[in-house]
Amino acid sequence: MKLKTKDLLTLAELSPKEFVGLIENSIKLKRELKKGGNKPILKSKTLTMIFQKPSTRTRVSFETGMYQLGGHAINLSLNDMQLSRGESVEDTAKTLSRYTDCIMARVYNHELLEKLSKHASVPVINGLSDSFHPCQILADFMTIKEKKGKLKGLKIAWVGDGNNVCNSMIYGALLSGIEMSIATPKGFEPDKTVVKESKKSTKIELTVDPFIATKNADVVVTDTYSSIHNSDPKRIKKFLPKYQVNSKLMSSAKKDAIFLHCLPAKREQEVTSSVIDGIQSVVWDEAENRLHTQKALLAALICA
Ligand code: CP
Ligand code: NVA
Repeated sequence: MKLKTKDLLTLAELSPKEFVGLIENSIKLKRELKKGGNKPILKSKTLTMIFQKPSTRTRVSFETGMYQLGGHAINLSLNDMQLSRGESVEDTAKTLSRYTDCIMARVYNHELLEKLSKHASVPVINGLSDSFHPCQILADFMTIKEKKGKLKGLKIAWVGDGNNVCNSMIYGALLSGIEMSIATPKGFEPDKTVVKESKKSTKIELTVDPFIATKNADVVVTDTYSSIHNSDPKRIKKFLPKYQVNSKLMSSAKKDAIFLHCLPAKREQEVTSSVIDGIQSVVWDEAENRLHTQKALLAALICA
């Protein structure tokens, strides 16, 4: 499948058809892997991975994904690179484009990704920035599709911080015709422009009441109150106890609602153990699906 975009930085670069197509290909690649292995469609291809922030799932799923498709991944922390000694992003992007077939970067400032994308002749993938986490949303919506059999017409409740993952999830909702209700404390809402753009085509509701958000929801999602770029422990007081996903809040969603969390989680803060380890939780399938969606995305960006 050929994507119109060269890069994936927010998720908004995709058309609804491309978004759903990537999810369908991820499901096919998962099936193929379980039947004995994927075809080496990325043979001799190399992915550069740049990490300015820590990662477990993103790093391992991208590296394993490249390997399973016959390719190779190089892992670089920013401190290993001449970037840390002042080489420009422009020169770095041009150099890496001469060696490798794709660049995935996890960064603080989203503008760094935009600069990489502008100067790299190869695809650039956002592996998380302070503003967006598009790869996470591919895995989340694949998980929803697997569990619910459809996307269109469902309702997602987001509870907690309107952060980078929430911003990309709003774009996911827009691309798939899912309704979203987002409960955050005042001052912790998702990006205003993202909400405004998405409201044109799907229902995006902002509220301060988690019980309004979860009412009739098919999917309940939360994320940590303190992201890597936002680690002030004082933030937690603004969220607890009202914005914790616990059994009482889950019971206000539909009976068969599923619970998602991108992980890493802080148990007994944004989610109780009873929920994340309970029968409605699908977080381990969600984490596994990072592998399958990274592969579909890499294949679509590199092969085409
Ligand atoms: N969900 C996610 O991106 O996990 P990592 O930070 O471990 O990569
Ligand atoms: N919002 C979290 C997501 C981690 C995968 C962060 O940015 O740290």
